[in-house]
Amino acid sequence: MKVGVVGSGFVGATAAYALTLRGTCSDLVLVDRDAERARAEAEDIAHAAPVSHGTRVSSGDFSALSGCDAVVVAAGANQKPGETRLELLGRNAAIFRELIPQICEAAPLAALIIATNPVDLLTDLAASYAPASQVVLGSGTVLDSARFRHLIAQRAGVDATHVHGYVLGEHGDSEVLAWSTVQIAGLGIEEFMAARQLPWNSALREEIDRGTRDAAAAIISGKRATYYGIGAALARIVEAVILDRRAILTVSGPTPYGIAMSLPRVVGRSGIEETLQPPLTAEETQQLERSAQTLREALGALEG
Ligand code: 2OP
Repeated sequence: MKVGVVGSGFVGATAAYALTLRGTCSDLVLVDRDAERARAEAEDIAHAAPVSHGTRVSSGDFSALSGCDAVVVAAGANQKPGETRLELLGRNAAIFRELIPQICEAAPLAALIIATNPVDLLTDLAASYAPASQVVLGSGTVLDSARFRHLIAQRAGVDATHVHGYVLGEHGDSEVLAWSTVQIAGLGIEEFMAARQLPWNSALREEIDRGTRDAAAAIISGKRATYYGIGAALARIVEAVILDRRAILTVSGPTPYGIAMSLPRVVGRSGIEETLQPPLTAEETQQLERSAQTLREALGALEG
């Protein structure tokens, strides 16, 4: 299995590192318009290979992507403190218009996994710049769902991998924390907390909501960028695709709302194998519609 990572900034390099530590692929190639940066990151990550799974890590130009099964696209500008993801659209859409056809030409059989923000709109645009045969999906709210599960797990005092629950819609300020999808040991959140005699009320729920929604801004204000969480999420998505795991992940792709955003999906070799529509409360459904509207308006403003 061969994986490419285009963009060797914090996110791309950390995704490559996570892939190396997971042993997801046998070959990993880093590409960046700053060839020296890609070379240096590849060399540093390659030194982790002998003490993990022996992945062959290299760097190169677009032609080095030939034969890739998946390519992570993490090129473009990231948010500065105080900036929203949607504010990056103009800049990163211009980069994608040039970049995506070059990646597809070099790696026609690769699934493209988009990480650049605003990820939902760039997933839509990437799909329009790629041939119809190319699998394209976005990292969407896989990271937000992980943040949500982490915060719930802290309160519930259990292993976060045993907490299920989904953040839906935009990977951004309008995202929907679908509390009605939360399950631990087959119980809803209120039942679980009551069973363990742990406190649970609307203030705690609000704290987790804010903590999930504002996580990126809080991290960016302290260290200028987020990369470990998204790097691990990207490695997980790549693995689900190239190893045909059929994992349930909230990746971004087409929806019945007329715009790409996240819903729970079965993710495997052909990318999004199936999109699921969990039963939501009326309020969650409304929030999801509003999230779609936010994205449609931002795309309309770019195209208009
Ligand atoms: C994140 O949520 C900034 O989108 C990035 O960490």
